[in-house]
Amino acid sequence: MIFMEDKHLLMFDNVSYAYDEENADELAVRDVSFTVDRGEFVVILGHNGSGKSTVAKLSNSIFLPSSGKVFVDGMDTADEKSEFRIRERVGVVFQNPDNQIVASIVEEDVAFGPENLGIEPKEIRKRVDNALKAVGMYDYRLHETHRLSGGQKQRVAIAGMIAMQPECIVFDEPTAMLDPQGRREVMNTARELNKNNNMAIVFITHFMEEAVMADKVIVIDNGRLLACGTPEEIFSQKEMLVSCGLDVPDMVKLANELRENGVPLRKGILCEDELVKEYLSILNS
Ligand SMILES: Nc1ncnc2c1ncn2[C@@H]1O[C@H](COP(=O)(O)OP(=O)(O)O)[C@@H](O)[C@H]1O
Ligand SMILES: [Mg+2]
Repeated sequence: MIFMEDKHLLMFDNVSYAYDEENADELAVRDVSFTVDRGEFVVILGHNGSGKSTVAKLSNSIFLPSSGKVFVDGMDTADEKSEFRIRERVGVVFQNPDNQIVASIVEEDVAFGPENLGIEPKEIRKRVDNALKAVGMYDYRLHETHRLSGGQKQRVAIAGMIAMQPECIVFDEPTAMLDPQGRREVMNTARELNKNNNMAIVFITHFMEEAVMADKVIVIDNGRLLACGTPEEIFSQKEMLVSCGLDVPDMVKLANELRENGVPLRKGILCEDELVKEYLSILNS
């Protein structure tokens, strides 16, 4: 058992999950332990079918562990009495924005969650406006939801989460169905929520590039937690990543190739900006 500290907002303690309890050998998630601190940005990487969505659903009591425990702010997700408070603290944004939009007008959609929490109308108005501003969709507040692009819909779904004022949002491959522009919009929104609102973020993805900004990266494979560390630590383990169907980000690859060809780049370069800066300083030295 990992000792639970106050800074831990979310904690998985030796969690396993079987979709079919009768066939408990086939675990979708197996003995997974990790923590997410308040204000931390955690990325979970894994190939298709590795158990990422199951982890997302375990994180706010949509699913309950078959064994082990999940704690949210010290509350056991298996404790029925805490379910409401747990859902207030941790929200989950799913892959397909179309399944998450419930109203035909943008601002009505964002108001839906807080209305269900029983919050008074004046406060709801404030929260809806702030949430829409936070995702850059305020100008679209009176637009029809079905006319929005995928990235815009996903941002409205995120605004709906923000309006509930959770301490943590779990994003389950929110960019998988989006074009590059939509991916950037959603990724930047997640980053800004983390930076400006100090919200803890769990960002599940199979795009390596999306992991380079994380405080912590978790790799899961076949239901198991394979590695956990900083982006530098994780992306220096190319063989481990390839063994579970993943890879290093393109910029890490390029930096590795340049290094192998004699360019004395330092280790731990993760993104384009760093690579360009480092390369220029070598050229100019
Ligand atoms: N509703 C379900 N019923 C039975 N098995 C499921 C169900 N959903 C997912 N699984 C299985 O659980 C494993 C993990 O799935 P999932 O968490 O969706 O992975 P990921 O999100 O990483 O693609 C996979 O083997 C998948 O086939
Ligand atoms: Mg999934």
